[in-house]
Amino acid sequence: MTRNIAVFGTGYLGATHAACMAELGHQVIGVDVDPGKVGQLAAGELPFYEPGLVEVLRRNLDAGRLRFTTSYAEAAEFADIHFIGVGTPQRKGEFAADLSYIDAVVEELAPLLTSKAFILGKSTVPVGTSEALRRKVHDLAPAGKSVEVAWNPEFLREGYAVQDTLHPDRIVLGVDALNPGLVEEVVREVYKDLLDEGIPFLVTDLATAELVKTAANAFLATKISFINAMAEVCEASGADVTVLADAIGHDARIGRRFLNAGIGFGGGCLPKDIRAFMARAGELGADQALTFLREVDNINMRRRTRMVERAKDAVGGSLIGARIAVLGAAFKPDSDDVRDSPALNIAGQLQLQGASVSVYDPKATENSRRIFPTLTYGASVNEVCRGSDAILVLTEWNEFKRLDPVSLVDVVRQRVILDGRNCLSQQDWVSSGWTYIGVGKPAHGPEWQDHWANSAIERQVESVNAE
Ligand code: UDX
Repeated sequence: MTRNIAVFGTGYLGATHAACMAELGHQVIGVDVDPGKVGQLAAGELPFYEPGLVEVLRRNLDAGRLRFTTSYAEAAEFADIHFIGVGTPQRKGEFAADLSYIDAVVEELAPLLTSKAFILGKSTVPVGTSEALRRKVHDLAPAGKSVEVAWNPEFLREGYAVQDTLHPDRIVLGVDALNPGLVEEVVREVYKDLLDEGIPFLVTDLATAELVKTAANAFLATKISFINAMAEVCEASGADVTVLADAIGHDARIGRRFLNAGIGFGGGCLPKDIRAFMARAGELGADQALTFLREVDNINMRRRTRMVERAKDAVGGSLIGARIAVLGAAFKPDSDDVRDSPALNIAGQLQLQGASVSVYDPKATENSRRIFPTLTYGASVNEVCRGSDAILVLTEWNEFKRLDPVSLVDVVRQRVILDGRNCLSQQDWVSSGWTYIGVGKPAHGPEWQDHWANSAIERQVESVNAE
């Protein structure tokens, strides 16, 4: 059954959710306080880059199932299902989450709810938030307790936002345990197509639903920091972390996904979510349970300084006057998001230590320039690599994975490549005369070419002998 849905917030989460709910056949209104964003979305333009989303947006605008507004009154009049998808950033100078955007939505929306309605939170919030919001809504809404508040956390990854929204691993719904109401029935209607696909649907109490999201992100952050800690040990011992990850990843209990060592995690979610989680645990008197996340954060931040140190060593021990080409600024590929991006952070540190840094990113240049205007930005790989003493690959865009080492030989001043995401073929670069420095593996220069040639011959001989 088609439902009338409002989605508050039109950032990565809200805009994707609004467009995807329309894609499921519902009538959707996206709401934002920023008239610029609303105007852009209504004209079929995305204020950010997300593969595949613009098509979903335009298709549903054209079909008349999707529109955007700044008017809460219009949204409250039109919809009885209200999703909240606004941001919950880290508070300035603190670990805790800033809930002011969520509070603002509820304080403006609730007084407009004069009949039965459902408020479904999607944003990542500290455990206990939805219970507090439920009370606030009941106080403020003319319809009082007939407005049901539930939590339906979002697990989408940037770069796969459409896929993750329309085909999630699971759907979690937290409801008021004492008064479950009708919200489960309504949510089953909203996600009918997904449930028909067999996607697991878990109904929990409010606190558990909030915690599912924070716990999932804490686990993912821990997994990345675990392999990055192994990378440190590999660097100290001459072992290779990629081979190590492949080998331990074959154990189904461990799994190979999210076990890529590199310059660490960034973005608008993992870093701030683990900090907000620690802060909340402290408020609850359970801080000891999460002290390990402090170490997860430390390992992660150490990756950035380690990369700067390795770059410094690679250019002869001092960055002053060195020309460094940085490939990648987004916190991950297929995104233009530079929030807490390790790549941009490293570029900035290199510059502060005296290097002349040129950055190229296929999509994130504009956003990078806004928050880091003092760096130099180029329009292509060749432009930023010209005359460089070292190239740093810091975001694993396909464009960089496919780079031809031979074509860059005459562009640079020194053939030195640092692979911050272990996404290049060490062998290809070394055999073209480059010194290759990956993460968690020994650095290799051209002298290794013979070694690999010989080991390839040995492998051939072995396989011939085996036959
Ligand atoms: C994350 C969660 O995956 C998602 O479920 C949640 O809803 C929001 O936060 P996202 O921030 O889009 O999603 O990015 P993700 O793909 O998780 O990557 C986060 C960071 O970890 C990136 O900087 C990425 O480069 C890094 N990463 C990821 C690694 O360093 N190694 C890995 O193996 C995987």
